[in-house]
Amino acid sequence: MNLAKIIDGKAIAANLRQNIIKDVLELKSSKNIIPGLAVILVGDNPASKLYVRNKITACKKVGIKLFEFYPEANVSEVELIKLINSLNENKEIHGILVQLPLPDHINSMNIINAIDPRKDVDGFTATNLGKLVTEQDCFVPCTPQGCLILIKSIIDKLDGLNALVVGRSNIVGKPMLHVLIQNNCTVTLAHSHTKNLPLLCKQADILVVAVGSSNLIKGDWIKPGSTVIDVGINYTADNKITGDVDFKEAAHYAGAISPVPGGAGPMTVTCLLKNTLKSALYSAL
Ligand code: GUN
Repeated sequence: MNLAKIIDGKAIAANLRQNIIKDVLELKSSKNIIPGLAVILVGDNPASKLYVRNKITACKKVGIKLFEFYPEANVSEVELIKLINSLNENKEIHGILVQLPLPDHINSMNIINAIDPRKDVDGFTATNLGKLVTEQDCFVPCTPQGCLILIKSIIDKLDGLNALVVGRSNIVGKPMLHVLIQNNCTVTLAHSHTKNLPLLCKQADILVVAVGSSNLIKGDWIKPGSTVIDVGINYTADNKITGDVDFKEAAHYAGAISPVPGGAGPMTVTCLLKNTLKSALYSAL
């Protein structure tokens, strides 16, 4: 049996970032605007620290100016909202990112919704998610946006294809569902209560998995020739990173599959850069 094509998220991301570098330079020379991103990381969750470090490095490489904030884990909601209000007012800042998850004593939606929707480059506010659902111009959340680019690198026309999204998080599963609907897919969203997940997988021309459960999806569940995007990031006992799909097995069934690491991850970061640039461009209008 032929092995699946490996969707090289790193290479696709690197390509896009070259264009972002050019656009950042152009915005500076034509309008004297430098895109600015504020990053807030609360506490010291090791995975969040790593993700934020990657985002910061990527911003610096394309010329986005960073404003970094590291409140202690015991910061109050009121203090965080005060910080966000000051960033909302700051003309140098075009994007505000609050890394999730937040500590348990904080209501994440209260914090996210304090972000000015025009600076919500993660696309997590109720305003942006509502606009996504109703197909208005908005900041599309970075991971679903990146997954769509990966899917389109394999499939020209998504019209009428069966897509299965596994996972119903606000930041990946739910927005991914709408991104695929907008692209005329017939979409099913599966989650922890779904019955007969293997059967649903077998029918999916496009499979996007974002649950955070190592090797949940077995190779023989996958429809032969399908496109599989693995958003999972899981750590094994020996500190290796694995996805939600059993990659080795799945490569014998899928037509194309994104690896972990090197698939959806670099695309998420790239779409954050894209959204920050878009916000800076809009600020000039
Ligand atoms: N936590 C996991 N993924 C993300 C993301 O894309 N953005 C933010 N802000 N937090 C996350």
